[in-house]
This record gives sequence, structure tokens and C-alpha cells, in this order.
Amino acid sequence: MDLSIRLNVIVSMIEKCDSVIDVGTDHGYVPIYLVKNDVIKSAIASDINRGPVEKARNNIAESGVSSQISCRLGSGLSTVKKGEAEIAIIAGMGGNLIRDILEADLEVVKQFKYMILQPVQNAEVLREYLYVAGYNIIDEEICNDDGKFYEIIKVKYDTKPLILDSIYYEISKILLDKKEAVMKCFIEYKLLKYSKVYDSLNDDTILSKNRKVQLYHVIQKLKGFLKCF
Ligand SMILES: C[S@@+](CC[C@H](N)C(=O)[O-])C[C@H]1O[C@@H](n2cnc3c(N)ncnc32)[C@H](O)[C@@H]1O
Repeated sequence: MDLSIRLNVIVSMIEKCDSVIDVGTDHGYVPIYLVKNDVIKSAIASDINRGPVEKARNNIAESGVSSQISCRLGSGLSTVKKGEAEIAIIAGMGGNLIRDILEADLEVVKQFKYMILQPVQNAEVLREYLYVAGYNIIDEEICNDDGKFYEIIKVKYDTKPLILDSIYYEISKILLDKKEAVMKCFIEYKLLKYSKVYDSLNDDTILSKNRKVQLYHVIQKLKGFLKCF
């Protein structure tokens, strides 16, 4: 089984351990890979929808790892009891949904060694929640898979709230410090996107003028970040 670039980054961030829960498992590729490659001993493959749970169950059986991976049907982290899994993976969902999943089961969240979170959109919403709620962001990775950028966040529950300049919810400080070429491309992509919106805003309304001022400042910050590469 060949994993996509995005899934490969996710599994590379998991250290050897006993058990993992994969929330929103869909195909089940992540727990299958982790078990087959001896990274983990057992896993819970969990999903809110019956179809994906069945798909995962079939893939798990075909891979010969049914005795090590149990499939569960239910929302978010409601399918796991405290202490049943050391690490949680929540990937391929929106940042708002991932935040809501964490908030819905904070007692379970608190006992994970760490979690790997991969928002497909609204990463800034998730990052703002994590910082403001006081989580410890341990590490981040970014990749480009088939023309799309994906940010992957390794995080642990903590109680040290941080309020950052809002640009750092969108452009990760950790990823900036790594200075990888893919991060430079990501900032260039954001810069182009915001510049196009900026140029298209020509209404004489207060709303449009305010948005333009706001975008101007974001664009300046992005240009500043690019100078560091
Ligand atoms: C796009 S797939 C991502 C699959 C896999 N995690 C990945 O990253 O490739 C999203 C999956 O999340 C599931 N899902 C959506 N909301 C959920 C929730 N609240 N709890 C658990 N699973 C959820 C969907 O049924 C779907 O199978």
C-alpha cells in the first residue's frame, strides 16, 4: 500500500508506541500502515459514518491486521475511553470541525501523549484555538501533495494560553523557523491570493475600504516573511 505524500508526512510524525486512535479514518490507511510497519501495536479506526467504517474494516481485513485494529462507529473522540489510546490522529477535516471534536471530549484529549492534527482548510481557526486555549504546539510540518498545501500539527493539551498576532495563526511560526522551500511556496501562494483580492476591491464602501486596509497589512507581513528565506 503506497501512502500519499500527505499521509506519509502524518505517519512520519508518529513515534513508536502501543496504541493510536485515528478519528475520521475513512479508508483506514493510516492505522494499517502504522501497524504493518511496527510503529504501533494496536489501533482504533473510528469514523462517524457507516460507509467509511465498512471501507476501513475491509481494507484492514485485506491487509491481515484485523486482530490489531478495531473499527468503531461514532463522532470524534466519543468512541474512545480515557487511557485506551496514547496518541490521536485527526486528519482530513476542516479546522473548525477538528476544534469542535477536541472541545467535545476534553477529558480524553488531556490524556493523549500528543495528537497529530491535519486540517484541510481553516488551519488558522484551529491554530488560534490551540494557542488561545493553551495547548503546546510541539512541531509542525507542511507539504504539497498534488498541487495542494497541507499543514500538519503535532500538539499536546496544556494550560499555557498564548495570544499571537493573527498572522501567526495563518503562517505558522514553527514552519517559518524551519525555512523549508515548500513554506516559501506556501507564503508566495497566500501572497498571490491576497494580492488578487486586494486589486479587485474597488468599491467605494466603508466595508471594502476597511478590508483593503486589512489586506494591505497582511500583504506587507507576507512580503516581510519572504525576505527571511
Ligand atoms: C476526507 S476523509 C479523511 C480521511 C483520512 N483521515 C485522511 O486524512 O485521508 C474525512 C472523514 O472524516 C469523517 N468524519 C467527518 N466528521 C467526523 C466526526 N465528527 N467524527 C468522526 N469522523 C468524522 C468522514 O466520514 C470521513 O470519512
